[in-house]
Amino acid sequence: MARNPGLRIVLSAVLAGAVAHTARDPTAATQPRAALSYTAGLRGHVAGLARRATVVDGARATGSDILQLDAGDLSPPSTPEGQPGDQRRPALMLAAAARMGIDVVTPGETDLVAGPERFAALARSAHVTVVATNLLGHNGKRPFLAHHLVPLGARSVGVFGLIEGWNLRTTDPVAAAREAVVALKAKGASLIVGLFHLAGGQARATEILAAVSGVNVVVLGHASTEGAPRIAGVAGQTSIVEAGDATSAAGVLDVVWPGTGTPGPPPHHVTPLAASVPEQLGVGLLLQLDAAPILPQRKVPGAQKAPAFETWDYASNDACVLCHAPAFEQWKTTDHAHALATLIRKKRNHDAACLGCHSVGFLQPGGTRSLETATTFFANVGCESCHGPGVGHVRSVDKKKGTARKVPETVCLGCHTADQTLGPFEYAKAVKEILGPGHGAPSSK
Ligand code: HEC
Ligand code: HEC
Ligand code: HEC
Ligand code: HEC
Repeated sequence: MARNPGLRIVLSAVLAGAVAHTARDPTAATQPRAALSYTAGLRGHVAGLARRATVVDGARATGSDILQLDAGDLSPPSTPEGQPGDQRRPALMLAAAARMGIDVVTPGETDLVAGPERFAALARSAHVTVVATNLLGHNGKRPFLAHHLVPLGARSVGVFGLIEGWNLRTTDPVAAAREAVVALKAKGASLIVGLFHLAGGQARATEILAAVSGVNVVVLGHASTEGAPRIAGVAGQTSIVEAGDATSAAGVLDVVWPGTGTPGPPPHHVTPLAASVPEQLGVGLLLQLDAAPILPQRKVPGAQKAPAFETWDYASNDACVLCHAPAFEQWKTTDHAHALATLIRKKRNHDAACLGCHSVGFLQPGGTRSLETATTFFANVGCESCHGPGVGHVRSVDKKKGTARKVPETVCLGCHTADQTLGPFEYAKAVKEILGPGHGAPSSK
């Protein structure tokens, strides 16, 4: 039934990296139950985003509820790299934010260079929620939401955003903040977070907080983009956090629900986004395709030919079935086995933006970069999408090597991202759906 893969597949001699896929959860045991992960001042820089996504996935996998916030300036400054009219980078940043599952964003001045309405339209099409409580558009109306309530575990967090400076049309931030706090509390918010993007920085934030009560946490935008993320200060009951260089470390602040825990700022954790943290597949794909787009070759005259020679660390399902027929038969009954058919039905099977999660190893280290190869030999979410590239295993004498039996939740979350999955991904339930007799189920051996 299976095609013979040996004829066409050039087995890679490079076995290093074959087990790198066995992603350890980078955030072991120590995670809190509810926490707030924050960014600010990314200014179009994508470095670290795919690793940050893995850190958040890892925290989720250990049972934490994570709220993700951005305090502005996702877009690059208008000079010298980008022109104000160029929406590509802002659109990419918003797409990455959606894929990471960032819950609420407030705009900064770099996001507003082409006008609030432009950024509002981009955010809408990326399905990213933006709040700006005191910002007015050209028509005198609010271009963004005034505030937003986000469920976090069994409770909810109210988020509002302030911006001030840069000749923007704004209302009094103190009055706006007071109104937002009252409205969010009335809607049942247990915790209130302000995203403050102020030309006056932390000094101005402290001034505003002296006049507004009930704000538990402030994420400071337009602050220093150097150093580690940190608790920059405490103003009354409010902890003020600052993202620092958000491309090289992730800051996570535990949520201490008011009335519980000890007084003082909540525990704060810093995770360096080092090379040892695996990149999330989904966010990684977005960034790779932006850096080096891959276009269907067939219909584009003069387009670059498919790479004539690639070395793969992926052996393909056809190799696995030779020795794991029962697992293969069970896998065929899962939705993963129809992932390419789904794309064909949508006429998107040659769309590089889709194939990465609907095939095996596309654009991954040791995987193919060719659309044709991906749809021919590496179609569907296959064995190695979960167990990692298996050339090393296929070639090994000791079959305990070169593959991973355990599939950590972070591997599933690499594809089951916030922008592709309806509702939260429930690992325990989802795993039951993809296993059965012959494949990982008790009756199999
Ligand atoms: C030539 C035969 C052969 C091929 C081809 C083969 N396997 Fe295996 N595999 C085995 C054997 C035998 C074991 C059992 C090793 C043991 O438990 O001692 C095994 C074990 C495994 C395990 C469990 C490992 C563990 O730690 O318990 C996984 C997962 C696995 N294979 C996946 C794959 C995947 C994915 C492919 C295709 C890339 C593949 N295998 C191809 C023979 C093969
Ligand atoms: C390489 C990307 C990828 C990985 C890794 C992946 N999935 Fe999926 N998954 C998909 C795609 C794509 C679909 C939709 C397939 C279709 O219907 O076309 C899907 C569908 C599903 C479904 C059925 C739809 C639903 O949500 O009920 C379940 C269950 C599921 N996956 C569970 C898992 C689990 C559990 C893991 C990890 C052990 C995992 N997946 C890993 C891409 C992936
Ligand atoms: C980041 C990974 C990822 C990317 C990229 C991706 N998908 Fe999917 N896709 C999934 C997952 C995961 C599911 C299963 C979602 C679920 O059921 O919860 C899915 C499900 C689907 C389904 C529904 C399958 C069904 O019938 O139930 C369609 C249709 C689909 N994808 C089309 C696309 C198209 C078109 C693209 C490109 C524009 C794309 N996908 C890109 C991961 C991805
Ligand atoms: C969506 C992710 C996913 C895909 C796709 C997948 N597996 Fe698995 N596989 C798992 C999980 C989860 C387990 C259970 C691991 C454990 O024991 O905790 C498992 C267990 C196994 C085992 C060890 C247990 C047993 O049943 O012998 C083998 C071997 C295996 N898979 C082979 C395969 C092969 C071959 C394919 C492709 C035909 C495949 N898997 C596709 C997730 C996946």
